[in-house]
Amino acid sequence: MDNRPIGIFDSGVGGLTVVKQIIKALPNEDIIYFGDTARVPYGSKTKETVTNFSAQIIRFLLSKNVKTIIIACNTVSSNSYDELIKMFDLPIIEVVTPGVEACLNATKNKIVGIIGTEATVKSGAYEKKIRQKDNNIKVYSKACPLFVPLAEEGWTDNDISRQTAEIYLRDLTEKNIDSIILGCTHYPLLKKCIGKVVGEAVTIIDPAKTAAKKTKNYLDKHGMLGKNNGNLSFYVSDNTEKFSFICNTVLKKTCTAEKVDLEK
Ligand code: DGL
Repeated sequence: MDNRPIGIFDSGVGGLTVVKQIIKALPNEDIIYFGDTARVPYGSKTKETVTNFSAQIIRFLLSKNVKTIIIACNTVSSNSYDELIKMFDLPIIEVVTPGVEACLNATKNKIVGIIGTEATVKSGAYEKKIRQKDNNIKVYSKACPLFVPLAEEGWTDNDISRQTAEIYLRDLTEKNIDSIILGCTHYPLLKKCIGKVVGEAVTIIDPAKTAAKKTKNYLDKHGMLGKNNGNLSFYVSDNTEKFSFICNTVLKKTCTAEKVDLEK
């Protein structure tokens, strides 16, 4: 048994979609969440910057005595994971591999779509991992950067988000995809809106569910499961009110965030 908390981070509110699944799978774990709201978006930044920001956040989470880290961000998972695991000596879980596994289980016609930030799409991480498992799968990727500010603003299903989704997803829907990976943790917040555009025949894959299952299996296998009350603590680098408002909506709990200056 290990009663230390789990550390989870993202550039902003997106990682809360992962927190939601972790709470469902592991209700007895305490969670410390960090949202880098001062520096969101990560998806338009370079690999070096994303790695540096992530390392600062992991150091902060380590100061809170976390037992493991979940990178609840596809941009960090696809660009910086290999470097981060070399820098830190604790288990770090990423979200790309779980997304790939869920997609391979879901697709029947072997034509899949991946949407993510510019940095995630540019990294080719999803395609590489899919091809390693099945070289016959056709993969079409599309960066949808505006979904991130829409989610941060709480505009998840209005005319603007729908029009944005229509423009971004038009190409993909013409490719006969039967599954689409939400390769950015902000995107499940727009799931309804994305679903309306891609249509009911397309399976929408949120990697967070499989990531939560993987985390549970890992902790169990290593005797690291906790027996806590499921306390949640939230830290952000800016604008606590806005974060807390979205957090309340996503998790349906009263959440209060504390501001932290990582650069001090
Ligand atoms: N939610 C993050 C991801 O999964 C980052 C989005 C961003 O900050 O651009 O990629």
